[in-house]
Amino acid sequence: MKSITELEKLNNQIVLLRLDLNVPILDGKIIDTNRIDKIIPTIKFLLSKNAKIIIISHIGRPKGNFKSELSLKPVKDNLSLKVKESVKLEKRDIFKLKKDNLFQDEDNRILILENIRFYPEEENNNEKFSEHLAKLGDIYVNDAFSCSHREHASVTSITKFIPSYSGLQINSEVEALKKITSEIKKPITCIIGGSKISTKIDIIKNLIPKFDNIIIVGAMANNIFKFKGHNIGASLFEKDSENLIEEIFSEIKKNSCKIYFPEDVKIGKELNGGSVQKSLNQIENDDMILDVGSKTIQNIKNVIDHSSTILWNGPLGYFENPNFSTGSLEIAKYIANKEGEIYSVIGGGDTVSVINSINIKDKFNFVSTAGGAFLEYLEGKILPGIRALK
Ligand code: 3PG
Repeated sequence: MKSITELEKLNNQIVLLRLDLNVPILDGKIIDTNRIDKIIPTIKFLLSKNAKIIIISHIGRPKGNFKSELSLKPVKDNLSLKVKESVKLEKRDIFKLKKDNLFQDEDNRILILENIRFYPEEENNNEKFSEHLAKLGDIYVNDAFSCSHREHASVTSITKFIPSYSGLQINSEVEALKKITSEIKKPITCIIGGSKISTKIDIIKNLIPKFDNIIIVGAMANNIFKFKGHNIGASLFEKDSENLIEEIFSEIKKNSCKIYFPEDVKIGKELNGGSVQKSLNQIENDDMILDVGSKTIQNIKNVIDHSSTILWNGPLGYFENPNFSTGSLEIAKYIANKEGEIYSVIGGGDTVSVINSINIKDKFNFVSTAGGAFLEYLEGKILPGIRALK
């Protein structure tokens, strides 16, 4: 990969900077700014080279539609405070933008395009769209490791139309993960949770031959409960995943990897309500499974006790509501207390948000901004966004 560290003075050239500023936002407020904080050095580096910067990012999954709650406005405000200069949110239709009518205000050096996923062309990896984007700048920089597993217009096909470089953050994540995966010590336990079931469920199968224990928690476990014949009430699950789960179990039989999923859970009648602990055969039709129960927490701790490496992506429950954050927090603290005894790697926006909420980030050996991309990297895949830079 050509890195931005190779760049000479940029003399007002425009850098199209793909970032992953997909931060958790609740009621218009950013809950965790980790992904913003991590890319400040890249922005400062580019400004020091005298560049103008157009930031491209997404938030959430608006599926090609404008959704005001997924605007990058709160991100723009936060970024502006951090870089101590004004950042302009470009709300005009991207198709109507021309290179010459950007940066008309002399003092403005950074602008951020509105959520790129408001355009269906982004996720369709539409080449016309990426070619148009490329024409807005002189250089493209990908510093979004956490969405480099996506074959999207502003991640992959844009590199066909413009000189492309890797950013400081992507360089450091790739270097760190390369080192971790080559020096990894067994027994290895991978904890996979979170709500992005469709992204992660097919990855599990490929991780089985590599690890000793896989612990499935969060919404993904609901699919396993359903597969095993339990009522999951109104809980989140991925339709038509039975075959995948069958494959997961058959892969488990072929390997020495053990799979664990919750034995008891905490349910709620609504996301923002209270919690009740239940066993799997007590779930009612209007129950939502939103956290793991106390027996499960103990089981996970036992597995951690017999591990040398822990890789963790995805919270154990709906941690945004404190009534359902116990599983995630207990496990985070347990791993943190084993600092020096086990090697721990955490990945993903929400998981990082959990450990940041109790200020224990320094207790982990490596904290990646990436979730899905982190798991795909562990699978041994070359991420499309990285391949495109090569
Ligand atoms: C992430 O949060 O992992 C990245 O922003 C990618 O998001 P996606 O799973 O919606 O593509």
